[in-house]
Amino acid sequence: MTTEQLAHVYQPYGTAQDVMHCRAPEVLMSGPAGTGKSRACMEKLHLLALLNPRMRGLIVRKTLASLGSTALVTWREWVAREALDSGVVRWYGGSPQESPQYRYDNGSVITIGGMDKSSRIMSSEYDVCYVQEATELTETDWEAITTRLRNGKISFQQLMADCNPDVPHHWLKRRCDSGKTVMLNCRHEDNPILFTGDELTERGRDYIGKLDALTGVRYQRLRRGLWVAAEGLIYEDFSPTLHLVDPFLIPQDWTRWWTVDFGFTNPFVLQMWAEDPDGRLFLYKEIYRTRRLVEDHARHALRLVQRCAECCEDARSEHDCHTCSGCRLEWTEPRPRAVICDHDAEDRATLERHLGMSTSPAKKSVSDGIQAAQSRLKIAGDGRPRLFLMRGALAERDEGLADVKRPVSTEEEITGYVWDQKPGKPPKETPVKENDHGMDALRYMVAERDLGGRPRMRWVG
Ligand SMILES: Nc1ncnc2c1ncn2[C@@H]1O[C@H](COP(=O)(O)OP(=O)(O)O)[C@@H](O)[C@H]1O
Ligand SMILES: [Mg+2]
Repeated sequence: MTTEQLAHVYQPYGTAQDVMHCRAPEVLMSGPAGTGKSRACMEKLHLLALLNPRMRGLIVRKTLASLGSTALVTWREWVAREALDSGVVRWYGGSPQESPQYRYDNGSVITIGGMDKSSRIMSSEYDVCYVQEATELTETDWEAITTRLRNGKISFQQLMADCNPDVPHHWLKRRCDSGKTVMLNCRHEDNPILFTGDELTERGRDYIGKLDALTGVRYQRLRRGLWVAAEGLIYEDFSPTLHLVDPFLIPQDWTRWWTVDFGFTNPFVLQMWAEDPDGRLFLYKEIYRTRRLVEDHARHALRLVQRCAECCEDARSEHDCHTCSGCRLEWTEPRPRAVICDHDAEDRATLERHLGMSTSPAKKSVSDGIQAAQSRLKIAGDGRPRLFLMRGALAERDEGLADVKRPVSTEEEITGYVWDQKPGKPPKETPVKENDHGMDALRYMVAERDLGGRPRMRWVG
């Protein structure tokens, strides 16, 4: 089949139409959730690849793992579907040297990559790159991509990106304000599955209803598309550039700690922390999920830290070493020095039974725990803070939470964790008790290390 015979239906509206025509070197589609930003960028990339033989494109996000669950589904099921079905485009899974990519029969290639494994993508040149959720990148990442735009197979080069708004002083917003990057402000009305003209569709009513149920900064950004900072932010000093770190191999001699905040309708959170010899804490793995039993979380946690050392060699395809009594499992990392939990007695007993480990109760006092975490986030004498979150720590994304636009990880909670500032409440004393499950587990960790010997007094002021 030749390219000319492919039938593909996509009608862009509003800013989606603008991005199709835009030839600016850098263009950002900014807007609330679900406006069709990612779809428009990918449609343009696909069309360019079809029309320009030997074009090279790139779809990239901060981490390769996060790309798979969202962007590539839209790509496969909507954007490139007919081309994939007909064989005009083929998937190549990649190798240690080569990134995964879509290969077109006209010689065009669209590479898939993550800035966490950037050496594989940065060795090539491209005509057009599409960055998904561009606020996750650093400006250095962004500029590195611009240097790779010189393949010369189409008449212009472009770094195209999308994002939900973030804080107003974000480097990407500033870059747009300074005129280096063109910002297109997308609206829900631009997405025909949500709106027909000015009328909400049935799906639109349902989807916008979910967004209307959001509160605080998530409502402002994901429903209204505004670049705003949370008011009354508790961890004001948290900054992605300082406190988020790329994954690294954690030395075996660093102490490990696990902290747990129980939940079923609300997320259950289990955080795995490593402490370096200077006492800095790194959150390096995390379970963050709703609607699962404690015993299932326990099994999941053990899977993350154990592997089969002596397999019973049972060849049956359903054989699972982790549940097989014939296999011998071993730990791939040090056991935690303590498993620190919130106080639910029944959940603790279940967790202990299924982990085969004892647990200890968290120091739950809120004010002093928060103050201790705040001081860890401040830059210490050596120029570094004393608490870090590792990118990609999340073991498995809870799509149910993502669907209703709730935070899916501790990293996503921290920038929306605010003081309850209702009239009549003393200022800066109690947090809003919402989307705070990772925040609680993080506080238990810090309290364990920093509030140890102190009397349990309440801080005033
Ligand atoms: N013009 C369009 N025609 C049909 N479906 C669309 C259109 N624009 C967006 N969609 C669909 O709407 C959903 C949300 O779009 P997406 O691009 O993921 O939004 P965003 O990136 O803004 O959150 C996707 O399922 C997408 O396929
Ligand atoms: Mg998107």
